[in-house]
Amino acid sequence: MKSITRLEDRYPAIEDLARRAKRRIPHFAWEYLDSGTGRDEAMDLNAAALAKVRLRPEFLKGDQTPDTSVTLMGQDYALPIGMAPVGMTGLMWPGAEIMLAKAAAKAGIPYCLSTVAAASIEEVGPHHGGLGWFQLYPPRDEGLRRDVLARARDAGFKTLVLTVDIPAPSRRERQRRAGLSIQAGVSKQMLSHIALRPAWALATAQSGKATLATVAQYTKAKDLETVRKFFVEHWTCNPDWAYVEWLRREWGGNLVVKGILSPDDAEACATRGVDGIWVSNHGGRQFDAAPAAIDVLPQIVERVAGRSAVIFDSGIRSGLDVARAIACGAEFTFAGRAFLYGAAALQQDGAHLAAHILAEDLRNAMKQAGAETLADLPRSRMS
Ligand code: FNR
Repeated sequence: MKSITRLEDRYPAIEDLARRAKRRIPHFAWEYLDSGTGRDEAMDLNAAALAKVRLRPEFLKGDQTPDTSVTLMGQDYALPIGMAPVGMTGLMWPGAEIMLAKAAAKAGIPYCLSTVAAASIEEVGPHHGGLGWFQLYPPRDEGLRRDVLARARDAGFKTLVLTVDIPAPSRRERQRRAGLSIQAGVSKQMLSHIALRPAWALATAQSGKATLATVAQYTKAKDLETVRKFFVEHWTCNPDWAYVEWLRREWGGNLVVKGILSPDDAEACATRGVDGIWVSNHGGRQFDAAPAAIDVLPQIVERVAGRSAVIFDSGIRSGLDVARAIACGAEFTFAGRAFLYGAAALQQDGAHLAAHILAEDLRNAMKQAGAETLADLPRSRMS
């Protein structure tokens, strides 16, 4: 690996990695990664609302060494930052899932593997350093569900994340203009660009022993339409509270529900024993009228604090943004695009560099604010 300081001098911010990524990856892949939905209003609002959170510094505290470590749901992490699940990460660069998992393990932070990643649970399992989380798009079929949970557990993923904010596929106009249409998880354009392997990995590796017979008939079929049908019939479903209760009963590890924007939904999670509530508007990719996730964060914290951990994502592009979210009451944050820009720009080095930039910037923000620990940050938040 090139010296991190030399790389940092050249690419001091996540935006520099994004600019390089844009030049290096195909247009359709860039649009998939960088876009929101509709007119990108919710995505732009995330950035604008984060920038409005101001931290009033306090001085005359002598020398301070900021401590960024955090214990979340019983696990210690070096930083309150994780890598959010990103479907088809391998589309941005072949093998990017493993690059990111390795960078996360090295930084002492969680890598959350997406259900619809281009690498399987077993491929990523050896690389997340025991800190990995697994994100679930809810299978309809109970056999598949049980099987995927068992596989995640066997691959060392201790935290399960149920994503609930996709009641229907979003229209994602920018992606469509670029030639992608991901209506049922897989698109013809995407497959023709990236070779068939990841698609078959999705249809087969992510499916279960329990339904091997069902899957076998699809794995033999070589046409895309059958893969698509597989997803629609067996994988995608809109979960309800009974589904959350089922997961709570079946999954022995930490359970997180991702995509919460309403205090009432947060409350309903907390009363069902959900360990972590992940406040997110999916990075502005689902519903263009959604609020900025940072704007609803304090209300949710107020409602469930002390009962469930509150986790935040959507719009984080710097360590300062992490400090802002912590100041607004989040216990932990995740970023999606920031890490992907890194991997797309400079592959393994870029994955490490993105984590390094966020960590250094967070430490600096804490020093500027006069916060020695993460728990000191809320004091500096101006309402
Ligand atoms: C996502 N996100 C996402 N979430 C999820 O639960 N499962 C998934 O498969 C995906 N896929 C995905 C693909 C791409 C290209 C992006 C950018 C995002 C949402 C992701 O986990 C996270 O919520 C957002 O990325 C957070 O916003 P920022 O950090 O990208 O602004």
